[in-house]
Amino acid sequence: MTDKNTTVNLEQLASLCKRRGFIFQSSELYGGINGFWDYGPLGVELKRNIKDAWWRDVVQRRDDVVGLDASIIMHPRVWAASGHLDGFSDPMVDCKTCKGRFRADQLDNTPCPQKPSKKVGVCGGELTEPRQFNLMFQTSIGPVQDDSSVAYLRPETAQGIFAQFDNVLSVSRQKVPFGIAQIGKAFRNEINPRNYTFRSREFEQMELEYFIAPGSDQSWHEYWVKERLAWYTRIGLAAEHLDQYIYAKEELAHYASACVDIMYQFPFGSQELEGIAARGNYDLSRHSEYSGKNLEYFDQEKIERYIPHVVEPSAGVDRIALALLCEAYRVEWIPKEGAEGEIRDAVPGEKVPAGCEERTVLRFAPLIAPVKAAIFPLLKNRPELVNTAQELYRDLQRRWPVFYDQTGAIGRRYRRQDEAGTPFGITVDFQSLEDQTVTWRDRDTMQQIRVPMAEVPARLSDALA
Ligand code: GAP
Repeated sequence: MTDKNTTVNLEQLASLCKRRGFIFQSSELYGGINGFWDYGPLGVELKRNIKDAWWRDVVQRRDDVVGLDASIIMHPRVWAASGHLDGFSDPMVDCKTCKGRFRADQLDNTPCPQKPSKKVGVCGGELTEPRQFNLMFQTSIGPVQDDSSVAYLRPETAQGIFAQFDNVLSVSRQKVPFGIAQIGKAFRNEINPRNYTFRSREFEQMELEYFIAPGSDQSWHEYWVKERLAWYTRIGLAAEHLDQYIYAKEELAHYASACVDIMYQFPFGSQELEGIAARGNYDLSRHSEYSGKNLEYFDQEKIERYIPHVVEPSAGVDRIALALLCEAYRVEWIPKEGAEGEIRDAVPGEKVPAGCEERTVLRFAPLIAPVKAAIFPLLKNRPELVNTAQELYRDLQRRWPVFYDQTGAIGRRYRRQDEAGTPFGITVDFQSLEDQTVTWRDRDTMQQIRVPMAEVPARLSDALA
């Protein structure tokens, strides 16, 4: 593990995310609500880019995967069939002293709310015996609340796919092997939401159910682990910050033949971004049993009927967003304007060296950056500069999320965009009026070159490819 991620200060990152409009605490106006988060103007673009990149790579660029958008609330029998009603629970203990409720299997790293220097269990508080707590949020359908109106917010998007397997198969003209993909909200009443947005009670998942012939489980599982690992590096996570956790046989669910978690080295340790499981035919068999419908597939080449097996890559959008923020976040010492020198990572607690200033920057990959370029007139009180810059801005805005800013000194405008993670700054100055060139500033190197204004769209397009 490199040092980089252990040194990202999560509190400083959260403060930047609030200040720049990536992530706000939900209902902050009313004191907040634990485990829920709102994404501000930059955060919503970041998440959209993650989902778009996934959808493009997993669905649109493939012939063998189609999409679905199932409802969040489904028939409660779905959750009986999937096993969530009986088994989707975590062990919980109550503290009779502080009245807190804690995950019984995470006491070792849960600080006591009353004595934060001590962990729960060794703080002197009296704990109950562990009991199972079902994580599904319960609601009711219709005006009368009784046993027959009980429903659940989905704790995963996957079951919507299994429940619609037959319909999608019949309309999509797909043949096994093929996949159904879905992006959407999931809800879990986590006992201890923690680590900023990492473990939330409401989050988004991107799930693929890839249906395969029995016996091909291992090769397809290996294929999807490879595919998904490569995707994370494409969106900008360094390969050296990614790990794989390979489940031992005894850790697997009884129906699964393999499972690998893709992990990212967060500041709070290496933690799961995505799980890729070979689940056999458990899910479709259970839905077949509980619904009474035959969910067998007829394989025309082999002339045989079977319930397809499935490989399930299941990723969390919010965790990926947090990983990308951790990866991109840097506090740097940069040479002051006019001074010579290199860009260096700031050393926490040390004074900024002479001739340098500090900058905070989010080094997002251009594909993922919320804003792709910022366009500036050098001065706001010169209509010829403003008009040219606005014309360029309007032109680029038709294709990409770009930002126009004319207020303040140009150096401060660059710095604001560095904090937002905008990869390119384009400035219209007096030379632009003479030779139709602009300065093109690279966020990471801070180097500026002159490029013909007419070439700006093509340059941007290349950078985002
Ligand atoms: N259908 C399989 C499934 O839901 P999971 O490992 O429970 O598997 C898949 O969840 C992904 O969803 C995780 O890898 C994680 O990225 C995300 N996820 C799960 N629980 C979460 C939570 N409480 N907060 C944020 N993301 C979560």
